[in-house]
Amino acid sequence: MRKTKAGRLFLATCLGSFFFLILYFQNSSRSVVALGGARTNFTGKSRRSPLQTLLNNDQLEQSAVQATQLGRREMLEEVCRSHTRKRRVLTPEDLRHLVVDDEHGLLYCYVPKVACTNWKRVLMVLTGKGRYHEPLAIPANEAHVPGNLRTLSEYSAAEINRRLRSYLKFIFVREPFERLVSAYRNKFTRSYNTAFHKRYGTKIIRRHRLDPKRGSLERGDDVSFEEFVYYLVDPRTQQKEPFNEHWERVHSLCHPCLIHYDIVGKYETLAEDSRYVLKLAGVDSEVHFPTSAKTTRTTGDMAAKFFRDISPFYQKKLFNLYRMDFLLFNYSTPAYLKLM
Ligand SMILES: *[C@@H]1O[C@H](CO)[C@@H](O)[C@H](O)[C@H]1NC(C)=O
Ligand SMILES: *[C@@H]1O[C@H](CO)[C@@H](O)[C@H](O)[C@H]1NC(C)=O
Repeated sequence: MRKTKAGRLFLATCLGSFFFLILYFQNSSRSVVALGGARTNFTGKSRRSPLQTLLNNDQLEQSAVQATQLGRREMLEEVCRSHTRKRRVLTPEDLRHLVVDDEHGLLYCYVPKVACTNWKRVLMVLTGKGRYHEPLAIPANEAHVPGNLRTLSEYSAAEINRRLRSYLKFIFVREPFERLVSAYRNKFTRSYNTAFHKRYGTKIIRRHRLDPKRGSLERGDDVSFEEFVYYLVDPRTQQKEPFNEHWERVHSLCHPCLIHYDIVGKYETLAEDSRYVLKLAGVDSEVHFPTSAKTTRTTGDMAAKFFRDISPFYQKKLFNLYRMDFLLFNYSTPAYLKLM
């Protein structure tokens, strides 16, 4: 008896969540979002929310940054419309990458290898209630400690929907193959990344190297880019478990066809786009996005060199795998690929 009651309650809760999430979709077209009088609730502060600021600015004259953003959003919507057949419903699991800033009304979907450490640092400053002042003073590993920032998946369905409707949602993306080569270099060519070597490297070598040496099999520390590509395009890989977030596609990490991002920032225009987000949030005088002086940054030329070792057959398979990220964010097919 108790069991069935609990079961019914559980079912009711599930249905409730389902209903809420569906509601978000029905109201999600930009014009329907009710912002006018509905003052959003940022812990009592009466200032305008970043989303209101964005929508109000859109009605006034447009700056170059705004025009660029509008173009990116329209492009994204168009690609979503023409490439996704059926809309599915969001689940809390889909929202694990959305970092919440309740103080300022921001939702940031983090994509590894796209300045996400610096964005997490900035959000720790913004949500830290005075605990942090300077983003770069926060150690990188601390920025990635799960408990230090809240993600949208931790909230109830009603709270999720309220935030999806009223917060400024933003994402930063990067040329997909540059991001991929950056992930490979960082996780497989640096001797300190032993956790990745053990977890993924050993598996890749076992499966994709013809005559592996014992030491390589044990340490997994000498995976070639070619072997990494074999691993990515092998259907078995994703059957067993989802891709690691460092090489998972933005499409799968941030669901840009289900969540309507207000700002699509790009790594290629990182400083400018970051400044714009901080300005919309009204905090551009309090916190500055760290400017990176990294000299080891992966560039397009570098990516081209890595792809020289990959046969056209595998280039094509890999391009198909990442195709949606190219299309959604208007990245052209790299000229160095041999897709014929
Ligand atoms: C405002 O936010 C606080 C804390 O998140 C919450 O307890 C309160 O119910 C909210 N008020 C309204 C009117 O939504
Ligand atoms: C897409 O990319 C092309 C080439 O880089 C550029 O000329 C165009 O303005 C971009 N379109 C949008 C909507 O961003």
